[in-house]
Amino acid sequence: MHATIALLPGDGIGPEVIEGAAQVLDAIAARHGHTLTMTRSLVGASALRDGSPPLPPATLDTCLAADAVLLGAVGDPEFSDGPRERRPETALLDLRKALGVYANLRPARVWPGLEDGGSIKSEQLRGLDLLIVRELTGGIYYGEPRGRTNDGAEAFDTMRYSTEEIDRIATVAFESARGRDKFVTSVDKANVLESSRLWREVVTGVGARFPDVHLEHQLIDSCAMLLVSNPDKFDVILAGNLFGDILSDEAGAVVGSIGLLPSASVGGSGGLFEPVHGTAPDIAGLDKANPIAAIASAAMLLRYALGAETEAAAIEAAIGSALDDGLRTADLAGDGQPPLGCRAMTQAIIDRLGTGAVNGAHS
Ligand code: NAD
Ligand code: IPM
Ligand code: MN
Repeated sequence: MHATIALLPGDGIGPEVIEGAAQVLDAIAARHGHTLTMTRSLVGASALRDGSPPLPPATLDTCLAADAVLLGAVGDPEFSDGPRERRPETALLDLRKALGVYANLRPARVWPGLEDGGSIKSEQLRGLDLLIVRELTGGIYYGEPRGRTNDGAEAFDTMRYSTEEIDRIATVAFESARGRDKFVTSVDKANVLESSRLWREVVTGVGARFPDVHLEHQLIDSCAMLLVSNPDKFDVILAGNLFGDILSDEAGAVVGSIGLLPSASVGGSGGLFEPVHGTAPDIAGLDKANPIAAIASAAMLLRYALGAETEAAAIEAAIGSALDDGLRTADLAGDGQPPLGCRAMTQAIIDRLGTGAVNGAHS
């Protein structure tokens, strides 16, 4: 296979974890005889520092021409107070819209060996495997009108969803559930919000087309509670853009660290793959970041954008094998456990590629 991958390392720990993911992609390509051409482009604060907009036109062109995009993270305290067109995060919102990737798949699973030590009972966590299907190109992130009143004393956003937008993301959730435990929990705030009332109505209608999949509606506030008190209740969680964003960070804490969570954004051209976490300014440049979210995002890229299931599963098995051997980055290490840096964890995963280990492989 020959494919082109646009790497967008971005800011903070983005370049560190993308370097790890790129090394894993190189290693898996070499083992399977593929040619992966990887380009690196500026995005976010690194583009702003270069005198460009957060999503430079050349970067967007590279992404549109590539088979898939792998992004680290964007955001930098230095630019967090600027106007919208000069904030690093705007690059991500514009890129998602330009690629048309409306379906953001955020799997969260408890790897064997990581059930203990947290605040959630280990019997709730053992084998936990859920998928958040987050709507990514609509809702309050993009709704108009948005802005400030002329005197600047009031600000407003619009949470807006069309029937078509809800229908297509719900369809992704039900189709995903068919390959899993056939259970969709749809999250909304239908006791208050008009957009949630339409959300619930449309999701119910889509559910009727999937009679083999069980559907429950859950209010976002109680869902946030259940995700920590009873996480193994869930299989597929279907949510709008804002609720899905919040629940996915919570899922990170449930499974051990946000540094474990990958994502795939699909539905448009190619696909955008990125860890759920941000730029982690507190640990940037210190070789402390957990590269697993980025490496697992590279595995999702192989699976969803390139159809390379064997290679994706091999990467996931290598991650499982490294964790099963007790290797831990600082975010996962318990008291007295010596943590591995980002580079050493990456190398440990590469060392376990293609060993035939299936421990922890995704089913
Ligand atoms: P964050 O996810 O960057 O960090 C939250 C906490 O988790 C920090 O303590 C951090 O050290 C830790 N953490 C995150 N990723 C880690 C990893 N791989 N390994 C170990 N620890 C990790 O969230 P934040 O601090 O709220 O945001 C920082 C910046 O990142 C902001 O500018 C925000 O807008 C941006 N952000 C970007 C993305 C993205 O590009 N996809 C996502 C979320 C936040
Ligand atoms: C994420 C991030 C982004 C989002 C920000 C940085 C725009 O939090 O990917 O989860 O809210 O979608
Ligand atoms: Mn987020």
